[in-house]
Amino acid sequence: MNSFSNLMGKQTLLPIIQANTVSQGVEIAKAMSSAGINLVEVVLRTAASLDVITAIKHELPNLKVGAGTVLDADILKKALSAGSDFIITPATSTKLLMNLANCPVPVLPGVSNTADILLATEFGYNELKLFPASLSGGTAFLSAMASVFSDISFCPTGGINQSNQQEYMALSNVFAVGGTWIAKSHWVEQRQWSKISSACAAAQGLS
Ligand code: 3PG
Repeated sequence: MNSFSNLMGKQTLLPIIQANTVSQGVEIAKAMSSAGINLVEVVLRTAASLDVITAIKHELPNLKVGAGTVLDADILKKALSAGSDFIITPATSTKLLMNLANCPVPVLPGVSNTADILLATEFGYNELKLFPASLSGGTAFLSAMASVFSDISFCPTGGINQSNQQEYMALSNVFAVGGTWIAKSHWVEQRQWSKISSACAAAQGLS
C-alpha cells in the first residue's frame, strides 16, 4: 500500500512548494525540475494551491506532483481531483487514516511521536513523515526509533536545511528529507528562480 519511496525513485530530496499564485507555483516547479527534480510536494496552505497542482501537472507532465497538508476527507477529495500523484499529511489520527485507507495514490502519513508511529503501523504503513522533525526530537529521536520500529523508514520535514540535511540522511531509517529551504519565500517573491534551481542542485549533491 505504501509505495511512496518507490514513487520517489532515486530522489532523496522532497522539495516543498508553497505558492500564493498559480504562476508562482509553476515557476517554482520549473526551477526545481531544471535541477533534476522529478517529484514535488505542493502544500495546501494557500487559496491557489489546488490550482497550482493542476497547473504544474499540465505544464510539466513528467513531474510527479503531490499534495501536502491533507487533513481530512474533504481536502483529500479535492487534492485527488486536482490530480495529485501522492498524498502527505502533517499529522495522523484514526479517522484520517481510515479516510486514506482506499486512497488510489501513495500516502505518506505525518507522525511526531511513538504513539503516532504505532497507530500508522497498525494501518500498515512502513514509510512515514516525521513532522515537525526539528521540534519532534530530530536526529536523536529518529536514531532511537531505529531499534523500536525497525521496519519503519522516515522522511523528516520541518526545520531541515542545508546545514543539517546530511545528519538526517546519514541515518539508516531515513529515506529522504523534505522542506522549503530550497525555495525560500523571499526568492519566490523576488522571482529569483535560479536560486531555487541552485539550492535544489546543492541539496542533491549536484553542485
Ligand atoms: C512541511 O510541511 O513539511 C513543512 O512546512 C516544511 O517545513 P520547513 O518550512 O521548515 O522546511
